[in-house]
Amino acid sequence: MNSEREVPARLAINGGQPVRHTPWPTYDKGAVFVHQDDEEAALRAIRSHLYFRYDYRPQQETECGRFEAELCDYFGSRHALAVSSGTTAIALAIMAAGIPSGSLIACPGFTFVATPSAIVLAGCTPYLVEVDENLHMDLDDLRRRWTPEIKAILVVHMRGFAADLAALTAFAQEMGVPLFEDAVPALGAELNGRKLGTFGLAGGFSTQSDKSLNCGEGGFLVTDDSMLFARAVVLSGAYEGRLKRHFPDGVPPIDTDLDLPLLSFRMDEIRAALLRAELDRLPLRLKCFHDNYTYVAEALKDVPRIAIRRPVAPGAFLGEAFIFRVPYGDAQWFAKALCGEGIDARNLGSDEDANVRVFWNWRFLFGAMDRASIQALLPRTTRYLRQAVDVPLSSCLSVEDCDHLIEAVRKVAAT
Ligand SMILES: Cc1ncc(COP(=O)(O)O)c(C=O)c1O
Repeated sequence: MNSEREVPARLAINGGQPVRHTPWPTYDKGAVFVHQDDEEAALRAIRSHLYFRYDYRPQQETECGRFEAELCDYFGSRHALAVSSGTTAIALAIMAAGIPSGSLIACPGFTFVATPSAIVLAGCTPYLVEVDENLHMDLDDLRRRWTPEIKAILVVHMRGFAADLAALTAFAQEMGVPLFEDAVPALGAELNGRKLGTFGLAGGFSTQSDKSLNCGEGGFLVTDDSMLFARAVVLSGAYEGRLKRHFPDGVPPIDTDLDLPLLSFRMDEIRAALLRAELDRLPLRLKCFHDNYTYVAEALKDVPRIAIRRPVAPGAFLGEAFIFRVPYGDAQWFAKALCGEGIDARNLGSDEDANVRVFWNWRFLFGAMDRASIQALLPRTTRYLRQAVDVPLSSCLSVEDCDHLIEAVRKVAAT
């Protein structure tokens, strides 16, 4: 028996051999889930020369109309509206729900900057809430700091992990405010068998290239509320009676065109055609995300020195990112060491990297405040983000890619 202790391999940042030599696959390097059928669907739409969603055809014959009907089927929602981005989908939902401008809207301090930006776009003010050690919105903090000026709660399924919707929806009901879902990073993920984005008054999604459905830029909202939907349709730019196309059985009694501004947040036919084709294979893509994540998380669950982010319920995640904390070490160094091994990793709260997912970098909310004072507003979120390492997990990863990630994390953790 060999009684010698194993000597850790020399890290690449210290002159050793990296685990991998090829770039880590990510959407911005072209690792996207696009099939030949999707390309052909987009080409057919291009060749039709009908690019605007409101043309002479009835709604159910247009690409946007069909996409919306298919989204309703997929999500089990009464209504879906295809729009120009995830940010505009969320802003439209807030505006169409009639949240008075100037209201506070609660959202977590860990989210993509588009979440507070959508609140600002809707004329409201983000009210930032702490996240817990698993980076989920912290209901205890929200309850403790509740004020009657908060008129809605915007939960985020950040990096594909479901927020604790049972607790948050119960709390929103108790406070008598609507709950909206920023489900952008979790398109297709479920919590206890129900699709994320369908728990609140409305759910906003993106179809930007990094998302489960990808047309470069785009988004949609889903809701069961016909009044909200009708207002969102008008606000998105359905002018001169085009709203009627979305309501063949009669338009609900909302303020009509021009009582609301028209913001031109519509989707176009080319993108809708591409998305419709991708929607057919979405279950396959979701399986890839889920399988990759589960494989990696299972293999690394006993590695000392790291705490893998835990979902609020078994399987309640998409799997688009692998996030863990380094509670007692230097997460910035850990992420750098992983990069040296050939894995794209970021320390979310790094001082060296103005990551748009951490609240203290959202300077448009804080005027002249310095960083330390901003961080002091949410001290626990600051601590957890400073400990967190984030690795993107493309649905295109091979088993070999996943094995490289596992090997690299083990190697760095052992040093
Ligand atoms: C949590 C979250 N919300 C909103 C958005 C905005 O989506 P879009 O870029 O389509 O506006 C993003 C984009 O990545 C996001 O991650």
